Amino acid sequence: MASTVDSAAEQLSKLGIDGAFADSAPNLKKNLHLLSSEQVELAKMLMEMGQSHLFEKWAAPGVDDNEKKAFFDQVAKLNSSYPGGLKSYIKTARELLADSKAGKNPFDGFTPSVPTGEVLKFGDDTFINYEQAGVKEAKNAAFVLVAGGLGERLGYNGIKVALPAETTTGTCFLQNYIECILALQESSCRLAEGKCQEIPFAIMTSDDTHSRTQELLESNSYFGMKPTQVKLLKQEKVACLDDNDARLAMDPKNKYRIQTKPHGHGDVHALLYSSGLLKEWHDAGLKWVLFFQDTNGLLFKAIPASLGVSATKQYHVNSLAVPRKAKEAIGGITRLTHADGRSMVINVEYNQLDPLLRATGFPDGDVNCETGYSPFPGNINQLILELGPYMEELKKTGGAIKEFVNPKYKDASKTSFKSSTRLECMMQDYPKTLPPSAKVGFTVMDTWLAYAPVKNNPEDAAKVPKGNPYHSATSGEMAIYCANSLILRKAGAQVDDPVQEVFNGQEVEVWPRLTWKPKWGLTFSEIKNKVSGSCSVSQKSTMVIKGRNVVLEDLSLNGALIIDSVDDAEVRVGGKVQNKGWTLEPVDHKDTSVPEEIRIRGFKINKLEQLERSYSEPGKFSLKP
Ligand code: UTP
Repeated sequence: MASTVDSAAEQLSKLGIDGAFADSAPNLKKNLHLLSSEQVELAKMLMEMGQSHLFEKWAAPGVDDNEKKAFFDQVAKLNSSYPGGLKSYIKTARELLADSKAGKNPFDGFTPSVPTGEVLKFGDDTFINYEQAGVKEAKNAAFVLVAGGLGERLGYNGIKVALPAETTTGTCFLQNYIECILALQESSCRLAEGKCQEIPFAIMTSDDTHSRTQELLESNSYFGMKPTQVKLLKQEKVACLDDNDARLAMDPKNKYRIQTKPHGHGDVHALLYSSGLLKEWHDAGLKWVLFFQDTNGLLFKAIPASLGVSATKQYHVNSLAVPRKAKEAIGGITRLTHADGRSMVINVEYNQLDPLLRATGFPDGDVNCETGYSPFPGNINQLILELGPYMEELKKTGGAIKEFVNPKYKDASKTSFKSSTRLECMMQDYPKTLPPSAKVGFTVMDTWLAYAPVKNNPEDAAKVPKGNPYHSATSGEMAIYCANSLILRKAGAQVDDPVQEVFNGQEVEVWPRLTWKPKWGLTFSEIKNKVSGSCSVSQKSTMVIKGRNVVLEDLSLNGALIIDSVDDAEVRVGGKVQNKGWTLEPVDHKDTSVPEEIRIRGFKINKLEQLERSYSEPGKFSLKP
């Protein structure tokens, strides 16, 4: 027994953890002989970084020994998954917590101005040309979906990407994204006259979403994508912090665990870099990486044109944006210029933009300009990065993104927190470290075309002040019908106006429920080519197009129409389609007899009557009831 204690004391002494230092962690000292030499090194690092409290409640040797080892397994993981290790995490945390306590503005010394970018109008010649350029370029692109978020605001029990984007077809977000990428891949391949490449698709998951994302893919045969085309990268959580000294927080349920929380979607850069995926893509000759988020059912309508902008303008960074009313609660894309010559184009959160403008010679702050919108476009957090410059930058930074901390203080003294906090980072902060020579721009699209995320639960959405977007499952689904209706209108069809209805306490516009597979039409020109003659669609109508070569020709639709066809079948659909159709019936979001996917949108679809045709053989067909 004595010899064990001696050897522990020897180890402590060897490590320089002796005297008063060892007294501050007597329980660690007692247990030291249980640890491997790597674990002792980690213990030393924790002691040096002022974390002796972690060992305060440790039991004597012989009790909970496996838990003690598991504690160090966790510490090793936290240490290896953070660029620079835990030491660097704690150091940065102390700096950021001190800045936060002092109320330091991260943009001090910077003057905001409006950066340059492209503002696109759906369907005009410029838009069509950019779409064409984007489709051509897509064969050189890789897509990255960040899907590690908890979705606390939405409160859905499943993973967000498994939620139906709309319930007419029940297609979930992940299926929609994969089918869009595959459609883009095929169109790009056609333009490249057979020089085809698979478009790689990476998904960042977290412990909260990883296994369910994997299961969703596997149980659906990857929604038609080759399994080798999809790569899952799991982000790790980071340690929580209890106070301004960055003392690591213990898990309230386990005295041998450090409490952890997500670090934010900014992790995606370090993961892409450290996994070697970026290098693999670069070596394969790819040129673009497109980042997007988990629940935006409109996004791919904006992707071809935005990629076209990136390719034409040679943007190193292209942020997708939408028009933004002054002071609207989304970040503004802003050029910041420092007195010392530094300059960057970056997302500035709305609550920082207005005070920053006021403090730098714009007494009215963030105000609308002659367009009726703020001159600072609204960031929707979908980024297109040019791979070469991106790799070069990550070689310098290892993918580390400037972090921030957002503690909720107990009182004005800012000495203690209401609950533990942690460092966070955001994917859109990537340009913060770029040199001024980097070409950073944006592409503004109409909101109806590009942005309808599903973030809020029904109760919170119903409380959104009038005129602001609900960002709920209800509004996300309605936005898809609205966009498809407006696109068909622009393509020449006469589509009836929507009616107003209230679901889950949210007043929404209900357009005809028009849906199609991405392979039917991902770009406006493709869709335009498939709508001919005089077509009309009434408000009560539903249309589902599942085939690639379906042409609407002098179609008058007043009811529900579902067309499915194999790729080699050309189907011309026309004449008068009239039936009882599919109606929307309100359901209460509290009614647990209704599946959660349905009740969170506040309506279900009653399939009363439809015309449904399926074409399973190649050939030319005509449907004229
Ligand atoms: P959100 O802002 O929607 O955050 O993330 P969230 O964490 O998913 O939801 P709340 O805030 O708890 O309600 C934007 C995107 O970033 C991803 C999300 O999955 C979503 O696609 N994300 C977020 C990550 O991949 N990792 C994170 O740590 C956080």
